[in-house]
Amino acid sequence: MNAINRLAAAISLTCLLPLSAIAAENGTVEVTHWWTSGGEAAAVKTLREQVEKDGFTWKDNAVAGGGGAAAMTVLKTRAVAGNPPGAAQIKGPDIQEWGSLGLLTNLDDVAKANNWDALLPQKVAQIMQYDGHYVAVPVNIHRVNWLWINPQVFDKAGAKVPTTLDELFVAADKLKAAGFIPLAHGGQPWQDSTVFEDLVLSILGPLGYHKAFVELDESTLTGAKMVEVFKTLQRLGTYMDANRAGRDWNIAAAEVINGKAGMQIMGDWAKSEWTAAGKVAGKDYQCVAFPGTQGSFAYNIDSLAMFKLKNDNDIKAQNDLAKVALEPQFQTVFNQNKGSLPVRQDMDMSQFDACTQKSKVDFEDAEKGDGLQPSMAHNMATTLAVQGAIFDVVTNFFNDPKADPATAVKQLNSAIKSAK
Ligand code: BGC
Repeated sequence: MNAINRLAAAISLTCLLPLSAIAAENGTVEVTHWWTSGGEAAAVKTLREQVEKDGFTWKDNAVAGGGGAAAMTVLKTRAVAGNPPGAAQIKGPDIQEWGSLGLLTNLDDVAKANNWDALLPQKVAQIMQYDGHYVAVPVNIHRVNWLWINPQVFDKAGAKVPTTLDELFVAADKLKAAGFIPLAHGGQPWQDSTVFEDLVLSILGPLGYHKAFVELDESTLTGAKMVEVFKTLQRLGTYMDANRAGRDWNIAAAEVINGKAGMQIMGDWAKSEWTAAGKVAGKDYQCVAFPGTQGSFAYNIDSLAMFKLKNDNDIKAQNDLAKVALEPQFQTVFNQNKGSLPVRQDMDMSQFDACTQKSKVDFEDAEKGDGLQPSMAHNMATTLAVQGAIFDVVTNFFNDPKADPATAVKQLNSAIKSAK
C-alpha cells in the first residue's frame, strides 16, 4: 500500500469511528452547573456545542435548582469523594475557598495565550484568580436589581411603571384591584433573598448595602433602615401569590410572560425565559431598575472554576472550555440567550437587545461611582456560610406574616456573627 493509499485508508477508518470515540480520545470535560430552565439550557447548549465542535466530549452534570444551592451540595460531595468534575459553576469569594483547598488548577497559560488580562475588567480578573493565578473563567455579568414588567397587564390595570418604592405599591394595588397577581414570586430562600437584597440597595443605597453585606457592619445590620427593609419586605409579600412556596423562578417568570401576573423582581437571567418564549425586549416586556436602585448595579458574574485533573487529554478538553468561554462568538450567542452582559470589554453591543444595552450603560455609570456592588444572594459578596445565615433569617421572616421586623434585624446580626 503506498503512502497515499495508507492515508486514505486511515481517513476512511476514522470516518467509521463514532464521533464520541474520537472525542473521548481527545478528552472529556465534565461540567457541573445549574442552568436547567428553558432559557438557561439554550444558553449552555451554545458552550457545549463549541467544545464538541473542537473535538472534545462534554459530560453534562446539570443539577436543577435556581441559585445553585443544590449544585454546590453535589460539588462538595464529589470533591470530598476525590472525584470533582473538570469544571464547575463557582462564583465570587467561593472561588477563594476552593482555591485554598488546593483543588483548583492553574489556567495562566490559557489566560496568557488568549489575552485575558486585557479582555476582562480588572475587578473581574481579580475574582477569577487565587493567589495571583487564574483558576476560573468568567462567562458573563448578570445584573440582579431588575424589575420585569408585562406592559399589556399594566395597561389593563391602568398601572404606571414604578421608579420608587411608593410607586411600586401604587402599581401593585392597581394590579391587585384588576385581578392580577401583582408580583410573581417563588418561595425559595435564594429568591426571597434576591428581593431582600434589592430592598437593601433601594433603602440603604449602595454604600449602606456595602456596609451590610460586604463589611457585615453591625450598626448597619441592626439600624433603623434595616428594620424598614424587613417591614417593606413583609408588605411586598402581601402582593405575592399565597401559593408561592417552593415555586421555581422560571415558573414565576412564566406567570408574567403569560399575563397572569404583572411584575417579577429577578436578575436578568429572567430575560432568558422571555427570549425563549419569543418575546421582544422593550415591546412585549419591560425591564427597569428595581425601584430606588437606579444608578446601582448589583453584579453577579457566572464563572467556571477548573479542578486539577490527571489525564492529559482531559486537561486539553478543560483548557479548550476555558478558551472558548471568552471567544467573541460564544460571548455573543451565550449572552443573547442568557440575558446577561458579555464579560469581554470589546464587544459590539448593537447585537444585543434593549435590556442588555441598558444594562451595559448602567454598568458603566455604576462603575464610575459607588453603584457597582456584589450580589449577596448570588454568592458574590460573602462566604456561603454567611450567605446561608442571611437566607435562613430572611426566609423564616418572610414565611411568617406576623414576624416582627425589629426582632428580625437582631436575628440577622447574630446569625451572621456566628457564621463568620
Ligand atoms: C446564576 C444564574 C442563574 C440563576 C438562576 C444565578 O445565581 O448566576 O446564572 O441563571 O442563578 O438559576
